[in-house]
Amino acid sequence: MCGIVGYVGRHNAVPVLISGLESLEYRGYDSAGVAVLQNDGIGIRKAKGKVDNLRTLLLNNPVSGKVGIGHTRWATHGAPSDRNAHPHFSNGEVIAVVHNGIIENYQELKDELEAKGYKFESETDTETAANLIYDFYKECNDLLEAVRLTLERIEGSYALGVLCSDCPDQIIAARKESPLIIGIGQGENFIASDIPAILEYTRDAYILDDKELALVKADSIQIFDIEGNEIEKSVYSYKWNVEAAQKSGYDHFMLKEIYEQPKVVKDNLAHRFSEDGKHIELDGIKLGKEQLKNINQIYIVACGTAYYAGLVGKYLLERIVRIPVNSEVASEFRYKDPLIDEHTLVIVVSQSGETADTLSALKLAKDRGARVLAIVNAVGSSIAREADDVLYTLAGFEIAVASTKAFSAQVTAMYLITLHIAQELGKISDEDFAEIKTALDKLPSQINDILTKAVPAIRKFVNKYIGSKNVFYIGRGLDYVVGMEGSLKLKEIAYLHSEPYAAGELKHGPIALIEEATLVVGVVTQESLFDKTKSNIKEVKARGAKVLAIAMKGNSSIEEVADDVIYIPRTHWMLTSILANIPQQLFAYYMALGLGEDIDKPRNLAKSVTVE
Ligand code: G6P
Repeated sequence: MCGIVGYVGRHNAVPVLISGLESLEYRGYDSAGVAVLQNDGIGIRKAKGKVDNLRTLLLNNPVSGKVGIGHTRWATHGAPSDRNAHPHFSNGEVIAVVHNGIIENYQELKDELEAKGYKFESETDTETAANLIYDFYKECNDLLEAVRLTLERIEGSYALGVLCSDCPDQIIAARKESPLIIGIGQGENFIASDIPAILEYTRDAYILDDKELALVKADSIQIFDIEGNEIEKSVYSYKWNVEAAQKSGYDHFMLKEIYEQPKVVKDNLAHRFSEDGKHIELDGIKLGKEQLKNINQIYIVACGTAYYAGLVGKYLLERIVRIPVNSEVASEFRYKDPLIDEHTLVIVVSQSGETADTLSALKLAKDRGARVLAIVNAVGSSIAREADDVLYTLAGFEIAVASTKAFSAQVTAMYLITLHIAQELGKISDEDFAEIKTALDKLPSQINDILTKAVPAIRKFVNKYIGSKNVFYIGRGLDYVVGMEGSLKLKEIAYLHSEPYAAGELKHGPIALIEEATLVVGVVTQESLFDKTKSNIKEVKARGAKVLAIAMKGNSSIEEVADDVIYIPRTHWMLTSILANIPQQLFAYYMALGLGEDIDKPRNLAKSVTVE
């Protein structure tokens, strides 16, 4: 949440900051702003809304300078407004600060500062940091030390970028629990919440760890611990190229990412089997027979779409490995005093690797002695670095706020982990393994098949159902989980009220909401449950619902009860989730398009949720 970028070098910082902020808009777009060191002090420009508004403001009222910081906001303290937009000045306009995170004790600090005569302009916690830094700076006349002393007083999370009008050659950066990297250029250096912001200029960066500070100048970068001791860090080289962070001819990042799924699944399957195809080989995972024998339960913990991918894993692991699996959203897990110990395997799932609740859940699990396996997309992210074992999902940048390809990659990872654990524990026969492997190999081309053939039909259904105000997704087993993800997508980008329900549970309440023309999406790909779900579809039909079914090819009797059907190619029961989800993604996408919504930047949401 919130994106930070900073530049110190020989060129005008403003264009670098603006393009960086545009790449970071997935982190929030309630307001944006820049602060630049000019000859006559720090110039700040900020505007409510997307970076485009800031761009317009800068055309009418420009600033320029060779050192600057920028911010794109997802509001936490104080409504989205010009006034609450970052950067924030200290009193006297000596210090300017951008901040990602939450200062939990800001009221106490603010009271102290007000007692000393400081005035506050905004409702944000960040302004407290700016004034506290200024207060220390007045005493010690050393910006780095003033920031360090401030950090000692702050409780909560932060990624900070700090400018001082007395120090025209530098930015101070600091991090705790919110991501921040220091990009290494030639004669210029950068700070950023994430690499896409600076990829145009460099792929090399230092990844700051918690409670580290950086003094960044055009020709040097020094990194310090919270005690002020200089430390050595190794350089991380990102593999991404600039194109990976562009739309490449698609109207939206979401559509581009939907169409990348055949490749993403293929990449995730490549090199994950032994040469003879008879075993799973997961680099970076040291979960062999010995470790697994010690495990008597599994927890899968995540947020949002990643949680649903984890839930697919729960259904698979329990059914195939026969081990108890609890699946929990991270914000619940971390406060429920979970029953975990050294015999628990905790699997955390995260695209960004920075989600605050998931990261805290991971730390809690480790503190209690559990072994933590992370399924993560962002290489070098906090979750990847903290976990005992990491399985990277190789999905590339996912920029659209609504997650699509990351889900398919995470579910593929769940397939691989399930097969690996099952094989290590002798819970799967060679024949079954071979059958699933054959089905897995077909998945990329089957996804492609849906993407090339289903779009006209889906657009037709969208036109038919676009007036729907309430949409239910029903299914059983894995189909229920897929429905959860489909429903989330529709809420996120089309802003439609939508609920997923276990098809068999519908009659215990929610069926009361079904009336003439209520849209029900019935996911019916699990053949062992086909007749049961079909009966539930009949029940909603009898009460006036319109039903759009997603079924496996060959099960055409679903047409007896559904108004419309989208068929997915035939596959093994355990692998239906990714295929069934593709039409759901397209349905949500074209619904949102038809309703004229901002698909890549849905209201109130952000991609990387680094606050609790
Ligand atoms: C936000 C995003 C979702 C994502 C969730 C978890 O809510 O909008 O798309 O699924 O966070 O994020 P993570 O990076 O941990 O997968």
